[in-house]
Amino acid sequence: MKITNYSKIAARYDVNQYRANEIKFDYDLKQYIETNSKAEYQVLDLSCGTGLYLEQQQKNFKEFNIKWKGLDLSEQMLDKAKEKLENVDFVVANVENMPYESETFDFISNNYAFHHYIDKEQAINEIYRVLTKGGIYKLHNIAIHDMPKWWIYHYFPTAFNEDIKRYWNKDVIFYELSSRGLEVKLKIDYKMENIMVKDYINYAENRDISVLTLIDDKDYEEGLERMKFDLKANPEKTIVNDFAEMFCTATKI
Ligand SMILES: C[S@@+](CC[C@H](N)C(=O)[O-])C[C@H]1O[C@@H](n2cnc3c(N)ncnc32)[C@H](O)[C@@H]1O
Repeated sequence: MKITNYSKIAARYDVNQYRANEIKFDYDLKQYIETNSKAEYQVLDLSCGTGLYLEQQQKNFKEFNIKWKGLDLSEQMLDKAKEKLENVDFVVANVENMPYESETFDFISNNYAFHHYIDKEQAINEIYRVLTKGGIYKLHNIAIHDMPKWWIYHYFPTAFNEDIKRYWNKDVIFYELSSRGLEVKLKIDYKMENIMVKDYINYAENRDISVLTLIDDKDYEEGLERMKFDLKANPEKTIVNDFAEMFCTATKI
């Protein structure tokens, strides 16, 4: 599989407003806190990137005594996170070898990052190691196996060839987590809808969606041209779009 160079796209990543708007109140964290009374909670945002999740949840969970941690492989992504956040301990590190004591974290969130890990089995070993007993690992990602008609694949078909090498499907994720002694609950939210191409061209031009950095420049330019061509012919052009999101919580028993 190819690797996205986040040092190159950190600035572009952070201006994509869709990403910030998309972060919701973390009800799983709330539920964990409600059912596990502790003087202090240790929460890690794994592959925290520019700190979008941490920024949102710090506001949402002000009244709780939470020690927030953020880990990411990219210094440039963390630099962006540090600009917007105080009271978070950040560390540049690889998920495959995390600089934390075993059984440190009550809750680990992991958004849109799992497909980037080269040794995914080792990543899960590490996640398991640093979770406390009863602690929760929450994986959230797009579920590419359920979205063959995603607009990205429509206009940039070689992107699918790259993604299929990076993403584990739901059965593999379920198996790999369960077989390490985690209690797994996994769901996929799916929607199919007509989307206006004009609403997506800015995202394509920003090129911060990782798979668009992995395809050849020629394939990228051709896809962008196809979008522009379609919009010139019909500014109100719509296409059918698949979108699927995986939500998985895994509790260490
Ligand atoms: C698509 S971004 C997601 C960032 C953030 N979680 C969010 O939702 O905006 C993927 C992140 O994973 C990080 N990453 C990739 N490989 C990693 C690894 N082996 N260990 C830790 N972080 C990694 C990248 O540096 C990048 O910041």
